Amino acid sequence: MTTPVVQVASLVKRFGDFAAVDDVSFDIERGEIFGILGPNGSGKTTTIRMLCGLMSPTSGTATVAGADIARDPDRVKSRIGYMSQSFGLYRDLTVDENLEFYAGVYELGARKTERIAWGKREMRLEEIGPRLAGVLSGGQRQRLALACAMMHAPEVVFLDEPTAGVDPAARRLFWTIIRERAADGVTMIVTTHYMDEAERFDRLVFLSRGRRMALGTPAEVKAQFGSHLSLEDIFVQLQEKES
Ligand SMILES: Nc1ncnc2c1ncn2[C@@H]1O[C@H](COP(=O)(O)OP(=O)(O)OP(=O)(O)O)[C@@H](O)[C@H]1O
Ligand SMILES: [Mg+2]
Repeated sequence: MTTPVVQVASLVKRFGDFAAVDDVSFDIERGEIFGILGPNGSGKTTTIRMLCGLMSPTSGTATVAGADIARDPDRVKSRIGYMSQSFGLYRDLTVDENLEFYAGVYELGARKTERIAWGKREMRLEEIGPRLAGVLSGGQRQRLALACAMMHAPEVVFLDEPTAGVDPAARRLFWTIIRERAADGVTMIVTTHYMDEAERFDRLVFLSRGRRMALGTPAEVKAQFGSHLSLEDIFVQLQEKES
C-alpha cells in the first residue's frame, strides 16, 4: 500500500458560529481523479482553499503531497496547482503572456520555455495564436487556466468548477485532458455541479452543509443510497433534505 497523497482528518472551518466545513475526512490516492460534489454553499471551495494552504482550518488536520496544510502551507503551495472558480487569468494579456506570467510566479528559470511549450501542447492551445485571454471561448480560457495552474508540474491539482459555463464539446475535451494528466500520475481533484460528470470520477465525496454525506466510487455511493437511484437523484435528495 502506498501512502495516500491527500489525507484529510476531521477537518473543520468555522466562520464565527457557522461551520462551513464540519468534521470532514477522506484520503486520495496518487493519480486518482477525485470529485468533491455538493450543492451551492456546501463547503467545496472552503475545503479546497484549506487543502491548497490558502486558509487555515479551525481544527482537524490534512497533509497534501507530504506537507501539513497548517504547519507548512508554503510547501503545500509549491507542490499543488489551483484553478479557482474565477480561473485567475489576465484578460488583457495574450495566451503566451499569461503562461509567461505564471512561469515567472513559479520561478521556473531554465525550465520556463519547455514548460510553456508543454502547457500549449497538452492543453491544445497551439492553434489559438496571439489572442488576448479576454476574447477566448469559455473552453479555451478553461484550458489556458489549467496550463497556468500546472506550469510548475505540481503533483496534485485542485480544479474548482472548471467546467461551469463551458459547452459540451469543450467539456469533453477538458475531461480527456484531465484523464491524460491523471495517467501521468498527477492527482486531479475536481468540484462540479454537473451530475453527468460524477460518473467520470474514480472516487468522490458528497458534501451537504459542510458535512460528508457519502464517500466512494460512483457505484459505491449509489449503493449507499439505493442503487436504483442515479447520482443526480441522490444529489437532489440531499439538497431537499437541507431545505
Ligand atoms: N470568508 C467567509 N466568511 C463567512 N462565510 C463564508 C466565507 N467563505 C465561505 N463562507 C460560507 O461558507 C459556506 C460554504 O461556502 P463555499 O464557498 O465553500 O461553498 P461551495 O460548496 O464552494 O459553493 P458553490 O457551489 O456555490 O461554489 C457558504 O455558506 C458561504 O457563504
Ligand atoms: Mg465554490
